[in-house]
Amino acid sequence: MLANGDSKASLECWRLDHAGQTIVLASRQRELPEVAYCGESLPAGENLKALAESRNRPITPGTLDQLAPLSLLPEEGKGFPGQPGLRLFDAEGRPALTQFALVEAENLEHGLAFHCQDSGSGLVLTLHLTFPAGSRVLETTTRLTNRGGTDWLVSWLSVPALPIDGAMTDIIEYAGRWTQEFNPIKLPISRGVHLRENRRGRTGHDHFPAMIFAEPGAGFTRGCAAAIHFGFSGVHRMLVEGLPDGRRQVQAGYGEMQHLAPGRTIVSGTAFWAFSDRGLNGLALDFQDYVRRHIIRFPDDKTVRPVHYNCWEAVYFDHKVEELMDLATRAADLGAERFVLDDGWFGTHELGRNDDTSSLGDWFVDTRKYPDGLQPLIDHVETLGMRFGLWVEPEMVNLDSALARQHPEWLMMPAHVKQVPGRSQYVLNLTNPAVSDYLYERLDWLLRTHAIDYLKWDMNRDLTLAVDSEGFPLLIRQTEALWALLERIRQHHPDVEIESCASGGGRIDFGVLRHTHRIWLSDSNDAHERWQMQNQAFLFLPPEIVGSHVGPRHCHTSGRRLSMSFRALVAMTGHMGFEMDLRELDAAEAETLKRYTAIYKENRDWMHKGRQYRLDGTAPETLAQIIVSPEADRFFVFAGTLDVPGDETTAPLKLTGLRPEARYRVKLVNADEIHRSATRFYKNPLIEPGGLALSGAALMQAGLVTPFPFPDSMWLIEGRREELP
Ligand code: GLA
Repeated sequence: MLANGDSKASLECWRLDHAGQTIVLASRQRELPEVAYCGESLPAGENLKALAESRNRPITPGTLDQLAPLSLLPEEGKGFPGQPGLRLFDAEGRPALTQFALVEAENLEHGLAFHCQDSGSGLVLTLHLTFPAGSRVLETTTRLTNRGGTDWLVSWLSVPALPIDGAMTDIIEYAGRWTQEFNPIKLPISRGVHLRENRRGRTGHDHFPAMIFAEPGAGFTRGCAAAIHFGFSGVHRMLVEGLPDGRRQVQAGYGEMQHLAPGRTIVSGTAFWAFSDRGLNGLALDFQDYVRRHIIRFPDDKTVRPVHYNCWEAVYFDHKVEELMDLATRAADLGAERFVLDDGWFGTHELGRNDDTSSLGDWFVDTRKYPDGLQPLIDHVETLGMRFGLWVEPEMVNLDSALARQHPEWLMMPAHVKQVPGRSQYVLNLTNPAVSDYLYERLDWLLRTHAIDYLKWDMNRDLTLAVDSEGFPLLIRQTEALWALLERIRQHHPDVEIESCASGGGRIDFGVLRHTHRIWLSDSNDAHERWQMQNQAFLFLPPEIVGSHVGPRHCHTSGRRLSMSFRALVAMTGHMGFEMDLRELDAAEAETLKRYTAIYKENRDWMHKGRQYRLDGTAPETLAQIIVSPEADRFFVFAGTLDVPGDETTAPLKLTGLRPEARYRVKLVNADEIHRSATRFYKNPLIEPGGLALSGAALMQAGLVTPFPFPDSMWLIEGRREELP
């Protein structure tokens, strides 16, 4: 990384170089800097001034005499015609029409900080752009300090605005709903503002906070693309704007008004950018690597992900110790390494959690269900060689609970306005220290007195009417208070892993992941749906933190019936677990599950450090990905078919991410699952016990032909590098 200043005249330029990328910033007459270039590396001696000058655009009649700069924070006060990066008003509604000037450009160890000042208002601004050590992901953030005497209400403070190259005309973003997370939609960047705003107090199933920009025809393995992710769960706005002059900008920030009193500082939140000239896979590699290096902190770097057994879809609220012990025994026999006791274990002497209408907040072991506490079950689990995890939902409370009766004032419940329940529950105001202390005390007690090394931290409702007792907005502060609570627990219980769950994937972002270790992608354990979601989520998240469970034969949320092989293979591509009544398994299913669990365990070490790529050019009903070891000496291809193939036969599957010159021995691991009624007259060395050996180049350029698939089935191809003779 290199940051160069070139300040010969009134035009100053800086460059940020990092791992094949260059960003050039330019400031004229000490204006806020603009991005003059962002893309593949430029030569070291590039004339930055000439480059910046070469970007000067002509002015057309009917417009202002100067083209207002699309700076890192476009300003209304400078005549910028589009969305400003900052909007703030005094108590009587007067806007601050700022005209910030650059005071100093600071070279940081891994980036640049631009310090700017608006002399009229006394506002001070710092715009940060950094590539944290060794990473290709750009972090951007804005800080705003009030050194003047006015009380400001800030309705919008964006992270540094970046332009989008004219060649990228498509937006890919995510919609969805409960059990349908990461549903991609594609739309063109057009004139005007396209805004995604989330006000749900969590990222929401429908709002994973990200946008991808791609040139037409870009695929997973080719084409230029850029992506922004905003790392905050509570409330966010993200916009892309096509200006009448053809320029396009992207902004992101909190979607809640902030009060900026004299002397105070506020921040915009953090955006994470990746850029790729290698298709969407380039984005995925950079984000996955970034999350591994800079976001997730596993206890003692224990990155081996134990196979989970979660009892939710087996027993729901109906906890019986004997049955749970039996399930644990079966799970261990199949290869599970951690038993997770889900919702239903808590309550008071008067009231237990037998459905979702009561007891949230009463974090005591229900002695009717567990007369001797949780210890006998934990002992049993440990005897089986497994670890023990527990479900909690600390931020929430049912009105039918001892806690709500004792402390009605702890609820986020504005006076004189009716709060709508969600799953019969309400939200506790975590910004009240008494609330956070109570929750900490309960969780600390659980973790101190039981051998629990994993918490499934759930959050099952949106925040609505999110104000404190005095009516001030809470969405930002509540999220910060949650992070503080999570951090307090992690400090005192550093060996405990925490999963972020919110009715499945309702809270997934790099902000919450800094304080947790795993996400529950969806309440859908339907492998058909999961395969689609996981193949999108992996653009941002490495597989080892994406919980992926083998669900029941007859899926509880979708009604689909799926084979064990398909369910197990889909689960293998994330952090694998089982979540079903194991008593339903017949002998063949148990054997298949055991087999794939064993393969997962044998290979997870390299899979969870490896590179995960989607394959292009598959038939429309097939989604295929390859996971390649860090040294590119091992790989697995997972080719999952979701519908009846439209073609009469299968076409070659072109691999990616391999060493072209290396020779790999490849074979179809589950050749025994070929359906003879569908696949006739198929004589291919891929299905011979010894497989076949081809160069990486041949595998990537010519590809492999798989057997004909049935819908909802998966081929698993294994490759190992061979020494050349
Ligand atoms: C949420 C979670 C589920 C399960 C239930 C328990 O819906 O997403 O996995 O834990 O709560 O009530």
